[in-house]
This record gives sequence, C-alpha cells and structure tokens, in this order.
Amino acid sequence: MITDSAVAYEVHAQDFLCGRDTSMIGSVVVEQWARTLPAGSAVIELGCGAGYPITRALQSTELKLWAIDSSASLVRGFKQRFPSIPVQCGKVQNSDFFNRTYQAAIAVGLLFLLPEKEQLALIERVAKILVPGGRFLFTAPIETGKWNDLNTGVVCHSLGWARYESCLNSAGFRIAGTFLDRGENHYYEAQLIH
Ligand SMILES: C[S@@+](CC[C@H](N)C(=O)[O-])C[C@H]1O[C@@H](n2cnc3c(N)ncnc32)[C@H](O)[C@@H]1O
Repeated sequence: MITDSAVAYEVHAQDFLCGRDTSMIGSVVVEQWARTLPAGSAVIELGCGAGYPITRALQSTELKLWAIDSSASLVRGFKQRFPSIPVQCGKVQNSDFFNRTYQAAIAVGLLFLLPEKEQLALIERVAKILVPGGRFLFTAPIETGKWNDLNTGVVCHSLGWARYESCLNSAGFRIAGTFLDRGENHYYEAQLIH
C-alpha cells in the first residue's frame, strides 16, 4: 500500500490523466478567481498535474505562471502542453519555489494528500513566498476526516475548517472567501493580512 501521494500519482499517472484531461471540474472557479488578480500577477501552481483543466484556465488570463508537480510523467505532459511555463518536478515539501515571490499561489487537489504536519508546514511556507496582501487558493473540505483518494487510493486528511482557519491565521492569512465547484469541491481563498 503506497502512502506517499507523490509516489502514488506517478504510479497512477496515466489513469489519472484519462479522467482529468476531459474533466472541467474546478476550471470555472479557478478562472473567476484568477480574473480577480491584477493582470501580470506572478502565480505559482502547486500540484499542477499535466495542466488540464486548471493550468489551462489560469493561462487563459493575463497571469504569469510557475508550476510544480512531483510526478515525472505528469510534468512531461505539462511541458508539452505549456512549454513557456517554468515547471519543477519535485515534492512541494522540498521545493525552493523557484526562489522568488508571487502575488498568488494555487493548489487544487493537493493539500489534503499530504500528512497533517506537512499541510501545516506548506501553508506556512506559502505565506513566506507571497508578497504582502498575496492570495492563496486551495481545495480542502470544510469537514474534518480521512478518506481514500479516488485516483490512487492514498489516504487523504482533511483538517477541517477550524484547523485550516487557525493555521492560516497563524501564518498571517485571513480567509477572504470560499467557493464550491461543480464537483462539490470546497475552495478556501486566503489573503495575507500584511
Ligand atoms: C488530484 S491531482 C490534482 C492535479 C491538478 N491540480 C488538477 O486539479 O488537475 C494531485 C496532483 O498533486 C501531485 N502531487 C501529489 N503529491 C505531491 C507532492 N508531495 N508534491 C507535489 N505534487 C504532488 C500529483 O502528482 C498530482 O498531479
């Protein structure tokens, strides 16, 4: 039984692509959010997969994009589709995030794949790569709980609204809004207070 989401997604990369490439779930929410950012904003996408439909939605706006994903197969697909977007192949936990700052970060379908401690650490690290007032959009349920990821079977961990909110607050964010997409996935929109 694979417990590391990075390993699991590489093993199941082709199956994941078959389903995700033809799904539009999340694209409307992400594009609407992206259009609220100033044109030219630098945005980093964490857990980008091969880029359909989320990177494609982001790219339809006027943002400058950077991306990271741990699956070599998915990153290969991403590079073919988006040759002009800098992409790192590696775990977000170890990334240097291209050693720069951003106006915004986005993580769709990633955070809850990580163990609790790593989720909390990632939120803190994201706060450090954003400029003051920077924005962070991520998906995670409101409810607390564990379940098996449909794509890979790895155990997912939702820390729930109260814990995400308190961790976001400790990292310097406030929750500025929430969204729900067609697949009933919940989005936290956070903004750095200073
Ligand atoms: C559910 S998929 C979401 C992909 C994309 N955001 C989307 O919405 O289609 C999760 C993605 O996170 C990547 N991933 C899993 N664990 C990771 C880690 N520790 N660091 C970076 N990427 C990771 C997987 O390779 C996969 O592409």
